[in-house]
Amino acid sequence: MGQTEVVILAAGTGSRMRSNKPKVLHAVGGVPMLRRAVTLAFELNPAAVHVVAPPHSEQAFVDCLKGDGHIIVQTQPKGTADALATALPAISDATDVLVVYGDMPLLQADSLRLLQQQRAKGADMAVLTAVLPDPAGYGRIIRNQQGAVVQIVEEADLRVANPIHIQEVNTGICLASKANFDRWLKHVNASNKQSELYLTDVVALAANEGCRIDGVQIDDIAEALGVNDLVQLAAAEAAQQQRASHELLLSGVAMPSPAQVTLRGELTFGRDCCIDVGAVLIGPIHCGDSVKISSYCVLENCHIEDDVIIEPFCHISHCVIKAGAQIGPYARLRPGTSIGAGAEVGNFVEVNRTTIGAGTKAKHFSYLGDARFGRNCNVGAGAVFCNYDGHQKHKTDLGDEVFIGSNSTLVAPLKLQNQVYVTAGSVVTRDVGPSEAVIGRSTQQKHIRADLLRRQIKQKKTKA
Ligand code: UD1
Ligand code: CA
Repeated sequence: MGQTEVVILAAGTGSRMRSNKPKVLHAVGGVPMLRRAVTLAFELNPAAVHVVAPPHSEQAFVDCLKGDGHIIVQTQPKGTADALATALPAISDATDVLVVYGDMPLLQADSLRLLQQQRAKGADMAVLTAVLPDPAGYGRIIRNQQGAVVQIVEEADLRVANPIHIQEVNTGICLASKANFDRWLKHVNASNKQSELYLTDVVALAANEGCRIDGVQIDDIAEALGVNDLVQLAAAEAAQQQRASHELLLSGVAMPSPAQVTLRGELTFGRDCCIDVGAVLIGPIHCGDSVKISSYCVLENCHIEDDVIIEPFCHISHCVIKAGAQIGPYARLRPGTSIGAGAEVGNFVEVNRTTIGAGTKAKHFSYLGDARFGRNCNVGAGAVFCNYDGHQKHKTDLGDEVFIGSNSTLVAPLKLQNQVYVTAGSVVTRDVGPSEAVIGRSTQQKHIRADLLRRQIKQKKTKA
C-alpha cells in the first residue's frame, strides 16, 4: 500500500435539491458541504486532494477550496464512475485512491482511517457501509455466504430477485489502488435504470477478478447520511447541531437549552461561558472566560474577551468586545466596531464602524457611526452622529471624558477634545477644544401662564 490521494466527487447536478446553487455548496453547520469534505480529507495527511467539479461553477468551487486541493472539471455528469475516471489521470500509479462523496457532511476522519486499516491488512478494496433502519435511496451491499462484499445494487435497480430487505447500504466511500480503479472503470457501462456510469459497479468487477473486498461498517449512522434534497439537508443540519452542542457542553460551555441554540462555523470558548436559549452563533467567534450570551442574540464573526455580558436580543457582527463590557438588551453592533473594556452599550443603540474607549457608556437609543471615543465618555439618550452628507461618510473623533447630552446631533467631520461637554439638544457642527462646553440650541422662550395658553388653544378649536 502506497501513499493515499483523495478524490472528492462533487460534480453531480444535485437536481433533487431544486436549487440553482450546486448541491455541495449548500452549508451544514454554516460550512459548505464541499468545504467540510476538503477539511476532512486533509485530516488524513494525503499526498493530494482532488475535487471533481462541474464546469459552470468552477469559480464558486475555487472560492470554497481556499487554496486547499485542486479542481478537475467533469464536463458532463455521466455518473460517479465517470467522475472518478476524470480524476485518475492526475494521480500517480503507485498511489491508493480514497473516494469521498461531496454530499456527506457528517463523515468523520476516523471512519476513513478504518478503510486505510483494511487496505493495510491486505484488502484490494475497502468500502464503507452502514446498517440503516430505513435504507431507502441508498445502494445496497450484497455479501456472499462467507460475508464478503460481492456487489452493490443501486436502489433503482433493485429487483424482486434481489434481497430488498437488505439494510446494509453503501456510503459511497471506498479505497483501492489507482491501478485497480483504472482497470475496473474501463469495464463499467451505463446499462442500468438510470443510464449512468455507476462507480458502485466496480465492486462486482473486482469480486469477479477474485479481489478481496472488505466492507467496513460505521457505527454512527449519522455519518452515512448523503444529502440529495433539502429534507436530508435539514436532517444533516439537525445532526450537526446536536454534535456541535454536545462538544461545547463537554468542553464546559453551559447551555440550558442546547436544542434551541444554533452553532455555525468555528466557535471557541474559555471557561464558564453560558449561551442561553435562542442564540445564533455564526463563527468564527472567539470568547474568553465567563462570557454570557443571553437569549435570542445573533452573533457573527466576533472576538469577545473575558467577563463580557451580552443581554438579550442583540445583533453583533464583525466586532471586538473587550473585557467586562456590557451590551444590550436590544443593541446592534455593526461591522468594524470595537467596544472598550468595561464599556456599556445599552438598548436601541446602533454602533457602526466605531471604536468605543474603555469605560465609555451609551446606554439608550442612539446612532454612533464612524466615530472614535476616548475613555469614560457618556452619550445621552437620542444622540445621533451624522456621518453621511448624502455623498460621503465622515468621521467624528472624541477625546476622553466627553459628555454628549441627550438628543444632541453631531455633524461630522468633527473633533471634540478631552472633557468637552455638549449640552442636551445641541447641534454641533464645528470642532470643540479641550474642556469647552457647547450650547448649540435656541434659548428657551419666556414662560407664560399655562391656563391662559390652554384657553387660547380651546378658543381656536371652537372657532374652527
Ligand atoms: C450514491 C451511490 C449509492 C450510495 C449513495 C450514498 C452511486 C452510483 N451510488 O448514490 O450507492 O448509497 O451515493 O450517499 O455511486 N457526482 C459527480 N459526478 C457525477 C455524478 C455524481 O461528481 O456524474 C457526485 C455528486 O456530486 C455527489 C456524489 O458524486 O457528491 C454522489 O452522487 P449522487 O448523485 O448523490 O449519488 P446517489 O444517488 O446519492
Ligand atoms: Ca448522494
